[in-house]
Amino acid sequence: MKRLLSGIKPTGELTLGNYVGAIRQFVDMQKDYESFIFVANLHAITVYNDKEELQKRTRDLVAIYLACGLDPEKTTIFLQSENNYHNNLGWVLECNTYIGELNRMTQFKDKSKNKSENAITCGLYTYPTLMAADIIMYDADVVPVGIDQKQHVELTRDIAQRFNKRYGDTFVIPQPIIPETGEKIYDLQNPTKKMSKTEENPKGCIALLENPASAAKKIMGAVTDSDNKVIFDQENKPGISNLMTIYSVLAKKTIKEVEMEFKDSNYGTFKKAVADCVSKFLTDLQQKYNDIINSGTVDKVLDDGIKKAREIAQAKVAEVYQKVGLSR
Ligand code: TYM
Repeated sequence: MKRLLSGIKPTGELTLGNYVGAIRQFVDMQKDYESFIFVANLHAITVYNDKEELQKRTRDLVAIYLACGLDPEKTTIFLQSENNYHNNLGWVLECNTYIGELNRMTQFKDKSKNKSENAITCGLYTYPTLMAADIIMYDADVVPVGIDQKQHVELTRDIAQRFNKRYGDTFVIPQPIIPETGEKIYDLQNPTKKMSKTEENPKGCIALLENPASAAKKIMGAVTDSDNKVIFDQENKPGISNLMTIYSVLAKKTIKEVEMEFKDSNYGTFKKAVADCVSKFLTDLQQKYNDIINSGTVDKVLDDGIKKAREIAQAKVAEVYQKVGLSR
């Protein structure tokens, strides 16, 4: 069975974008792959996070994974910080990555834009090498992610290939898996910008744990255009296309089917259908989340997951150390 690996940072509130671009894929694919899904809490501290909040969000993320349908029988779920081998391999990979490569990372450029050098951590800069370690340590064949992470997975491939060439065949070269529909969910108020956990405009972003009625209101207030035709056209109708994508994924219909369903509807009717659909999705999800977060399930799942993750990682790091000359 081929291996799948992916992770999410427990920073900010998890959004509908995280679900559509990432978690949904994890759930759909777990039956066909040996899956590893983790909480990227080491990546979370590349920017400052309040300690209590980080701990709460870490647990919440695991509960959300489970509430969305990740099955611990099929998917190994673990905390990155509980597996020190990520740091070990991360360092070796840092020493096999060039600053030119890191300078080209668009996410780093975006996140450091307009900030003074004394406000950008080294961790934010070397973030992609730790991400590469996360992936190749487990010999992952596929990495389901939204489009914003594609460049990082491509760099991971380059680093793995370079290492294999220098030191002999060691790592599987991973493939990013980007969803056909929903590779990027946009901000509801500014539909050319990514819906983001740290988004400053809360009206543009739907959090997975927010009140369903407030989410429905945000959908009704989403920026669209004056054309009043429910047609998918990313370039000219980004707002309506974004809502169609959300509806398509949550209602499990193709974009063509969504167009057919609403061909005689105005935006008001369409938005109401999307709002109802999002609200129902959140209500169901939150019900499951509430059952899980108040049980011992989160700890049990993490305790089981870390054992398996460590075992694989330990063997890989031993092999790497030996090949690089770090063993006696
Ligand atoms: P993060 O935490 O920013 O996002 C987690 C996942 O959600 C996807 N995503 C979106 N997809 C569609 N529309 C959006 N608006 C949207 N916002 C977020 C992201 O593409 C991502 O798949 N660096 C990673 C975490 C990470 C990781 C890894 C991922 C660390 N190590 C190894 C895969 C493999 C990150 O910050 O994702």
